[in-house]
Amino acid sequence: MYGTRGRLTRDGIRLHDPADFAPMHRAGRVAAAILDAVAPEVRPGVTTAAIDAAIAALIEVHGATSATIGYRGYRHASCISLNHVVCHGIPGPRALRDGDILNIDVTVIVDGWFGDTSRMFVAGEPGRKAVRLIEVTHEALMRGIAAVRPGASFGDIGHAIQTHVEAQGMSVVRDFCGHGLGRVFHAPPNVLHYGRPGSGPVLEEGMFFTIEPMVNLGRPETKILADEWTAVTRDKSWSAQFEHAVGVTARGCEIFTLSPAGRFHPTWG
Ligand code: MF3
Ligand code: CO
Ligand code: CO
Repeated sequence: MYGTRGRLTRDGIRLHDPADFAPMHRAGRVAAAILDAVAPEVRPGVTTAAIDAAIAALIEVHGATSATIGYRGYRHASCISLNHVVCHGIPGPRALRDGDILNIDVTVIVDGWFGDTSRMFVAGEPGRKAVRLIEVTHEALMRGIAAVRPGASFGDIGHAIQTHVEAQGMSVVRDFCGHGLGRVFHAPPNVLHYGRPGSGPVLEEGMFFTIEPMVNLGRPETKILADEWTAVTRDKSWSAQFEHAVGVTARGCEIFTLSPAGRFHPTWG
């Protein structure tokens, strides 16, 4: 039963028990393994609906449940966000073309625990700017994760991400954030990908949350299309995102969503 163990901070952030790390690792590993397995499907000519169908089948193979099908009316096993789509792209009939970049975001439920992760993929040969965007975004996520330890603040995470991105002349999306995760999909806090050092709640052992920065080559502003899901950059510049779920330990953090195949970066084979 939810709420019978652990404690909530004043900010409503759940402090999980040490025993809760193992089931979070299992859920995160399933989500990451599904991204590993779908990688060969990402090539020119394949539709995003076909990739989503492959993901739905993989979720079943793992005996897991999709967290996104039925979530607030969403009907798909993944979000697939192409080129200038920032996040929440809806899988459909669009076929991938050479040089497209895409984020695939999968959230599964395993034994009641949520695994939420996303990565960038490329169809065919990406352009140099696209590769740089993807590399900067991944590095920003990893710098955010490096700031995670008890006593640090959520503002420290956002600051680490923002300073890296802006030093490269790119921008951090403000309209979407990471979130607490555990036996619920979206819990407090909002994990901002920008901020001032020392601002926001202080991190404590047992907090579980995602960090999922969205980075644009151009300006940070977004808008939602008429389908009420697809978020795009207002200036049509290309956007990238990586997402990991982490748990705060006594000394730092553990990443729940590491790729079992070591395949989380498209330019690292
Ligand atoms: N996985 C997304 C996240 O990182 C949420 C997707 S909700 C959906 O929080 F309904 F759009 F799938
Ligand atoms: Co998330
Ligand atoms: Co996600």
